[in-house]
Amino acid sequence: MIDLSTEYLGIKLKNPLVASSSPLCEDIENIKQMEKNGIGAVVLHSIFEEQVLLQEKELNYALTENTERYAESLSYFPDVGDYHFAPEEYVKYLKMVKKAVNIPIIGSLNGISNSGWLRYSKKIEEAGADGLELNIYYIPTRADLSCQMVEETYLELVKELRKNIKIPLAIKLGPYFNSTAHFSEKLAEEGVDGLVLFNRFYQPDIDLVEMSVVPNLELSTSSTLRLRLRWIGILYNKIKTDLAVTGGIHTVDDILKSIMVGANVTMMTSVLLEKGITYIETLVKGTEEWLRRHNYQSIGEIRGILKEHKVKETDAFERANYMRVLHSYHYE
Ligand SMILES: Cc1cc2nc3c(=O)[nH]c(=O)nc-3n(C[C@H](O)[C@H](O)[C@H](O)COP(=O)(O)O)c2cc1C
Repeated sequence: MIDLSTEYLGIKLKNPLVASSSPLCEDIENIKQMEKNGIGAVVLHSIFEEQVLLQEKELNYALTENTERYAESLSYFPDVGDYHFAPEEYVKYLKMVKKAVNIPIIGSLNGISNSGWLRYSKKIEEAGADGLELNIYYIPTRADLSCQMVEETYLELVKELRKNIKIPLAIKLGPYFNSTAHFSEKLAEEGVDGLVLFNRFYQPDIDLVEMSVVPNLELSTSSTLRLRLRWIGILYNKIKTDLAVTGGIHTVDDILKSIMVGANVTMMTSVLLEKGITYIETLVKGTEEWLRRHNYQSIGEIRGILKEHKVKETDAFERANYMRVLHSYHYE
């Protein structure tokens, strides 16, 4: 028997495959299917800050009492009634899921402001979540906002959240920081247990016929993974948090590469949307088979064996690789 077990956020998982937050997780039957097909853990779909605010009527208050700018910004949001879950239903759903399956279930919040909505995290904890993932999906567009100010905002948010809950906390981040390693360390100092790298920012396109901006959500491919591999490799053993890959896990090779650079878990959505939930079993068996063929007894043995900082001067190493890649290109 090959031991695929791993630890993530202090929780023991039977293997490193995790279903990341997506509409698939809105249906309890899907989660049961995921468990049946061998998934290690599930992150539920997100509850958004705006949904919580609406429920608590703070949003109404903001609309009537607050600035016009705030009211305008809210008008961009989809009709909250379009969401399948109100926050209260989310808590009920979480309790149901916890009763129905035996795998760890991680709740998910999606927001950016350090305000009253964070109280909702307590409800997720009380409903029995094994951990909480906070997705900070934020694109700072104001020119008067320095990177330091943006990072401070994140840290304040995390500090507040950490005060609210005792369950393990993971933060899902985008890749656009001036110094990802430094900022990751700051998050670890605030008591973050895991980093989920990286958010895929949706990239709108332009419709030249309608002359309008159109939303565009493309599923990932394995090439999406490379940025994640690089950063997990850089952060492994440098930052005192667990590391989760999200973005581009499609094959057994993707899982193995991620673990080899130091990931505790590999999260997936696109592949499950494309190939179906039963594909989890193929990935689990394939991972086991690879380890068996290469004479490993456990997945723990390959974790971090390809970490980047086997070299000491990682900045120089990155520059050298960059030059090597550019010089290796030959044109006819
Ligand atoms: C349709 C769809 C809905 C998603 N909803 C959420 C969400 O509610 N919260 C969240 O944190 N991530 C959400 N994600 C992002 C995924 O959890 C995941 O991080 C991302 O798709 C990258 O992984 P992948 O390459 O395996 O798809 C969503 C992704 C898709 C495709």
